[in-house]
Amino acid sequence: MLSPTNMDPTKILLDCDPGIDDALALLMAAASPQLDLLGVSCVAGNRPVHTTTANACALLELAGRGDVPVHAGCARPLALPEARTNLVHGEDGLGGIAFAAGPAPRQEHAVDFLARTLRDEPIGTLTLIAIGPLTNLAMVEIREPGLLRRAKALLVMGGAAFCPGNVTPAAEFNFHADATAASVVLNAGAALTLFGLDVTSQAAMSADWIASLGRLRTRAGRAAHAMLAAYAFEDPLLHDACPVAFALAPQLFDCRQLHADVERAPGPDEGRLRPDADGHGPRFELATAVDREGLLERVHAEIARLA
Ligand code: RIB
Ligand code: CA
Repeated sequence: MLSPTNMDPTKILLDCDPGIDDALALLMAAASPQLDLLGVSCVAGNRPVHTTTANACALLELAGRGDVPVHAGCARPLALPEARTNLVHGEDGLGGIAFAAGPAPRQEHAVDFLARTLRDEPIGTLTLIAIGPLTNLAMVEIREPGLLRRAKALLVMGGAAFCPGNVTPAAEFNFHADATAASVVLNAGAALTLFGLDVTSQAAMSADWIASLGRLRTRAGRAAHAMLAAYAFEDPLLHDACPVAFALAPQLFDCRQLHADVERAPGPDEGRLRPDADGHGPRFELATAVDREGLLERVHAEIARLA
């Protein structure tokens, strides 16, 4: 994150499954001069990985950032025969809004790209932001234990520690989509801050705020407005923008230390983030509160930078 003495942009990698809320997060990351978006990796989640990858390419093209490399990643969870997708974001994953196709994704698999970049960048200089199922990141850690710990920060949207899930009563979508991967990442010992439903449920977008994006009179503003208008929710939640906003303005969030792991076993508790009162499980920071108005202002301001 920028500090008064360090005006160099924060180097980030974004792993995502666009998805409409991923789209806002991606536009923010592409727009902000505070962030140096080294690359985008995509994973099966909201939609199959070929769809999430094409969506990431199109969104970067919309943002005028066709220069940012996009890499397709894992097509299915670590321990399941096929991906658990959803239609919340529409069949195409972006609310049915037409986008010009962006440049083709790179040939290198996302797991290879993430591992190579984590290995090549100086230790403690890269911020890794993950806003979909954690399959790609888990594969990085399984193939090269300790690589995730090279990141300066690992900012993840996922889980529900002290509130109900949103895909089952026990589990949030990203953690339920690949519970094994979520547990592998939590156990990697990286500098993790988790943005679960505990905080993202506070980040509701109002109809007025969504309308204000349309009033930007820019391609990006109109596209963001159109995607959100297609969302089947009243006051939809800015899940995936939270970790990106934290990278830009951590002061918008309150966090606390938590020991917890993820229930891997198939069944009603699969994907549950289970706090461990005895302090034995993985330890990380959990975001517990957000300045909602400040968050909405920041998301709007970053998207307003785009044409
Ligand atoms: O539970 C919310 C998460 O699931 C978000 O990342 C959304 O894009 C979906 O992937
Ligand atoms: Ca997502």
